[in-house]
Amino acid sequence: MEFENKTVIVTGSARGIGREIALKFGAEGARVVVFDIDIDGQAEIADAVCGEIRAAGGEAEYFLGDVSKPADTDALIKFAKDKFGSVDVIVNNAGITRDNLIMRMSEADWDAVLTVNLKGAFNVIKSAARTLMKQRAGVIVNMASVSGVMGNAGQANYSASKAGLIGLTKSVAKELASRNIRCNAIAPGFIETPMTAKLPEDIQKAYKDSIPLKRFGQVEDIANLAVFLAGDKAKYITGQVINVDGGLVM
Ligand code: NAI
Repeated sequence: MEFENKTVIVTGSARGIGREIALKFGAEGARVVVFDIDIDGQAEIADAVCGEIRAAGGEAEYFLGDVSKPADTDALIKFAKDKFGSVDVIVNNAGITRDNLIMRMSEADWDAVLTVNLKGAFNVIKSAARTLMKQRAGVIVNMASVSGVMGNAGQANYSASKAGLIGLTKSVAKELASRNIRCNAIAPGFIETPMTAKLPEDIQKAYKDSIPLKRFGQVEDIANLAVFLAGDKAKYITGQVINVDGGLVM
């Protein structure tokens, strides 16, 4: 139980990759804060994720809010400290897509994606920074994407947000290293989640053909790395971007 007595915040963990990450940390004994956007029915969904974490031996509480709002991320950190006494690991996983060709991409879609994916991670890190620095310990894992590494037609906003997140990761790693805080990014390729399920079948096939391993990844492929990066076995790894993509980027 590597994460016993450790508090882990996972943003966007009501479903998809974030949910799997929350469950994996729970299975390692962590005290998990499931954080996701406050929309209809979300409380029940987040509560069910907490129930699964508790059943697997972890502790869990959910908190709803919007990563793009600093007041919400401040409240999230306060919630974690009030409930569990510390903030040890942060996984900035919340993310959205608003894909379109650049000529048709609205300013609103550009702003929405940059605001959630990039500013959201900045907000959470900024809200937590004082606490982590005081503790002289902490780990941050940011969910980037291969799109942020190699670009992707139709995803100018998303790729820019994820490339920005990689810059943020490296800067935070440099800035906070002296306080024993590590910060790394994971760049998933195509992972089977609601986000990829909405792609048309022919596009899915074309993507699979371009992947050396010829298949999409599973949420546990990402969650396994998030847990590894947060743990002691990765204690000398910081400022890195690790691709989990079946060989797509090499
Ligand atoms: P998803 O759409 O299934 O889950 C994203 C979660 O983030 C949802 O629960 C959503 O409610 C939450 N969220 C969205 N906006 C939020 C906000 N403003 N505040 C708080 N929570 C918010 O997506 P998926 O596939 O699980 O992706 C998770 C992360 O992994 C994202 O950052 C995504 O960009 C990244 N990623 C996913 C890939 C894939 O193939 N699925 C590939 C590369 C990266």
